[in-house]
Amino acid sequence: NGVSSSTQKVAFKVNSPNVEYTDNQIRSKYTYYTTEVSKVNGQYVAVPKETKYDFSVDTKVPKMGMMLVGLGGNNGTTVTAGIIANRRGLSWQTRRGEQEANYYGSLIMGSTVKLGTDAKTHKDVNIPFHDLLPMVHPNDIVIGGWDISKLNLAEAMDRAQVLEPGLKQLVAKEMASMVPLPSIYYPDFIAANQEKRADNVIEGTKASMAHVEKIRQDIRDFKAANNLDRVIVQWTANTERFSALIDGVNDTADNLLKAIENGHEEVSPSTVFAVACILENTPFINGSPQNTFVPGAVELAERHKAFVGGDDFKSGQTKMKSALVDFLINAGIKLTSVASYNHLGNNDGKNLSEQRQFRSKEISKSNVIDDMVEANTVLYAPGEKPDHTVVIKYMPAVGDDKRALDEYYAEIFLGGHQTISLFNVCEDSLLASPLIIDLVLITELFTRIKWKAASTDGAATKDFEGFHSVLSVLSYMLKAPLTPPGTPVVNALAKQRSALINIMRGCLGLQPESDMTLEHKLF
Ligand code: NAI
Repeated sequence: NGVSSSTQKVAFKVNSPNVEYTDNQIRSKYTYYTTEVSKVNGQYVAVPKETKYDFSVDTKVPKMGMMLVGLGGNNGTTVTAGIIANRRGLSWQTRRGEQEANYYGSLIMGSTVKLGTDAKTHKDVNIPFHDLLPMVHPNDIVIGGWDISKLNLAEAMDRAQVLEPGLKQLVAKEMASMVPLPSIYYPDFIAANQEKRADNVIEGTKASMAHVEKIRQDIRDFKAANNLDRVIVQWTANTERFSALIDGVNDTADNLLKAIENGHEEVSPSTVFAVACILENTPFINGSPQNTFVPGAVELAERHKAFVGGDDFKSGQTKMKSALVDFLINAGIKLTSVASYNHLGNNDGKNLSEQRQFRSKEISKSNVIDDMVEANTVLYAPGEKPDHTVVIKYMPAVGDDKRALDEYYAEIFLGGHQTISLFNVCEDSLLASPLIIDLVLITELFTRIKWKAASTDGAATKDFEGFHSVLSVLSYMLKAPLTPPGTPVVNALAKQRSALINIMRGCLGLQPESDMTLEHKLF
């Protein structure tokens, strides 16, 4: 934890008249090529368009803290133990032999991106994703947070039953020294079966400004105690029920603040956390499915230019779905139904065994193929959709080893049918933890990126500005991506990944990787 903010050495340099490296910035001029389509006399006309942007990236990487709401849960304890294990370079015995700490499953820490083509060999040059722009290293993240359960993290890690005993032993001492801060608990929002856990709560069972202020103070204290430049807060607590959207209560920023003041019963704990973070200018990401970001919360974030992202970690079944459905439909195969069954035995499953919490999950799992279906007007008539069912059952015996069974049923050539059946078993929290890390690394990076339009057509801006408050670049990690109001949602996994990479390339004055590889095709 002794790391301080530093100007990171860049892993490579771009040699271009459009890119400038200063002591603490990378500045680029970037031409964004798009195609504008209009319908003229019933026919599409496509017009190539250019917009010129200036980007600037601060290369000074901050000393960063991550505060998790739900720190004592399966995800909270697993990601904490995982970061400690990596930081200390630990290895431990398992029944299969020695296991070393790693960041498998993290897009940023475990995958590479193509930088370009080698000048001599003409082979692809791939670099670790983490090297694309200066980013915080997860080993340097200081961890803290809240939980309604007061077990220290060593005890909470035992309760989670996720990690191997060998690893638990090595991190137990450090984990035991970490105790979650008391949190806000409004019993109506999570399942009644969670009540026994709630022994670490701040007084009051309805939203209040005192709660908002307490959370803000906790963030400030954590920042000061650890000498941090930046804190990012992430909700990995229980899935809440949806909040009813009520005019005059959560429809606008001002109404939401008033509703909190008045202790309105439709303001959820997660929304109170979001509001506290927004007012504290601390990015807040929602890893659960509920509608934390009611319209008033989004408006408040926009007003304060605070970053928010969500919703619901996309770890297993849905991640597969957003890759597979993209493949099937883009291959011209007419997907006609998707049946998804899950059973799991961890506390998340227990909480989801109540109807209202299950409903939140059902909604976030259900819309994930819509954009791909709508885009294929050859296979689907307007409004036509494949049947799609999601079932989740609580099965204590299987613990954190969640089972996801999916059947994809599709129509192929001349009325034939194809059935694809998937059976996915793995520790849920080991899939989610790397996403928690990716979400904070990417969010932190985007707090250091500024843009300015210097276009001939688009609104030219004088001063550099930040990205929109709603960080849709986080979509790859999220099941029901939150996007700026009125903008489309992209669920297709490959598109989400290339959007992120290409925006980062734009900051370096580099064009998107087009995969044309003409250099290998024309000569
Ligand atoms: P968990 O039940 O083990 O942990 C949740 C923790 O939140 C518990 O320790 C609980 O005491 C605490 N909590 C509940 N209400 C709180 C509040 N108001 N303030 C502070 N703490 C509170 O669940 P797990 O497995 O860690 O999952 C966390 C969330 O992430 C769930 O909503 C789950 O649906 C979501 N999620 C998990 C995925 C995965 O594990 N692969 C994938 C997608 C989403």
